[in-house]
Amino acid sequence: MNLQIFLCIISAAFPFLFRAFRKRPGLSPPPGPKGYPIIGNIFDMPRGFVWLEYDKWFKLYGDMVYFRFFGQGFLILGSLAKTDDIMNKRSTNYSDRPFLPMVLGLMGWEVNFGFLPYGSWWRRHRRAFHQHFHGGVVHKYYPVQLAEGHALLRRLLVTPENFMHHIRQAFGAMIMDITYGIKVSDSDDPYLTIAEEALHGMSQAGVPGRFLIDVLPILKYVPSWMPGAGFKRQAARWGELTTEMVQGPFNHVKETLQRGSVVTSVAAQSIEALPDEKDTRRVEEEEIARNMAAAAYIGGFDTTASAVQFFFLAMAMYPDVQQKAQAEIESILGPNRLPDHNDRESLPYINAIIKETMRWQPVSPMASPHMCTNDDEYGGYLIPKGTIVLGNVWSILHDPNVYPSPEEFKPERWLKDGKLNPDVQDTSIAAFGYGRRDISLYTMISLVLAVYNINPPVDDQGNVIHLKPEATSGMLSAPAPFKCRIKPRSSAAETLIHGW
Ligand code: HEM
Repeated sequence: MNLQIFLCIISAAFPFLFRAFRKRPGLSPPPGPKGYPIIGNIFDMPRGFVWLEYDKWFKLYGDMVYFRFFGQGFLILGSLAKTDDIMNKRSTNYSDRPFLPMVLGLMGWEVNFGFLPYGSWWRRHRRAFHQHFHGGVVHKYYPVQLAEGHALLRRLLVTPENFMHHIRQAFGAMIMDITYGIKVSDSDDPYLTIAEEALHGMSQAGVPGRFLIDVLPILKYVPSWMPGAGFKRQAARWGELTTEMVQGPFNHVKETLQRGSVVTSVAAQSIEALPDEKDTRRVEEEEIARNMAAAAYIGGFDTTASAVQFFFLAMAMYPDVQQKAQAEIESILGPNRLPDHNDRESLPYINAIIKETMRWQPVSPMASPHMCTNDDEYGGYLIPKGTIVLGNVWSILHDPNVYPSPEEFKPERWLKDGKLNPDVQDTSIAAFGYGRRDISLYTMISLVLAVYNINPPVDDQGNVIHLKPEATSGMLSAPAPFKCRIKPRSSAAETLIHGW
């Protein structure tokens, strides 16, 4: 490490040191790995796949682990009971968000209201988002979802080997259409490419403590040209992409409306509802509308696309599950029709597959960081004010007492007497954030199962290559690249694919 940066770190560490070791009479924080003075648990901090590392810590210290990184306290929760007690039942004290200097200060991600601290600015964003995406209105988006689902089926027919890309294309195009009314057909569409790269930056930088600046904010004053300041150059690049992702499509809609063209989209509706240009509220309202529109992309693109990619992996690994799902679709729809939203209630096994996909390989394995506003006491421990709190969704969804043989993909665990079993602990609670947003997953998954067989890859001699679930590491998790063979189930299926 460069000497100047080291000196910066040491001088910046004194206030943290004071905070970290200030004596509080009585209670102490929950157990965790023993750290060093000043630097805390810097040598214990997991570098990648943090959810798996923390899962090992739960076995050593219990399902509530506390540690410090340069004076910044972290609390990691490993059970649904504790996550629910702290994040939900005590939500007034835990709804705040930490200020992450890398992602927010340097990269401009305050445009994502999911990162905003609790308060009126966050509430205004949330209200605006809710207006366009609450349960009573999302049915308006079914036709677009269905159209993109059918487009996915057609692309899989032509270049099945590019399935990973086609899936992301389908979700990207769906969100661009719903949110901005922009039709994306080209696979190298610049809007999608920019959003992909910006979201990749968020996923990398959004893990608290991933960059030293998160716990030593003073590092923001390190000049970009200095050796060791690569994080600043990286942040600047990611920041430009973020701005472009949020402003590019929104400005396009604004200009289109100004030219008098008709656009039907979430962004267009919000722009039309904005106060007049001369109105003093205009600047703020426009900013909220712009950020709200981007939130659909930020929250809904990577998550859903990665979940469907994990579904493909599961189907290539578990042929029996695939056959059962196809048999269910055939028994309800027959061979001459593709599923749509009206069929969902009649397809419990498909619904169980969706739940199992989200459980088996959660795409947001550490959810989103929260922050404790005031000192709290829980279970005989002190949770100091300012602690960053994370729920380990992965551990909760892999608890063998709740989900026996958690590593296995078993949709049956969600069913009883041929129906969804309401007694099974639902992924939506643990992964807070799922809500009714799995509709687009249903569309893609049911359509693909209706017409395609997904098989594992074979080597040059025709031997089956057994796949393993491997994921990428970041704030969001996606499957590591894998191959599979995708073929129409029959000539009738092929006709259905062409026929729409
Ligand atoms: C597989 C699908 C999805 C998963 C696993 C997921 C997961 C999450 C999680 C864990 C959070 C953080 C919740 C918290 O910290 O309290 C979140 C927030 C959010 N998600 Fe999702 N999400 C999914 C789909 C979507 C979709 C489709 C949309 C949009 C159409 C969306 C929009 C949002 C927004 C706007 C927030 C911020 C909410 C707030 O701060 O109040 N998500 N999501």
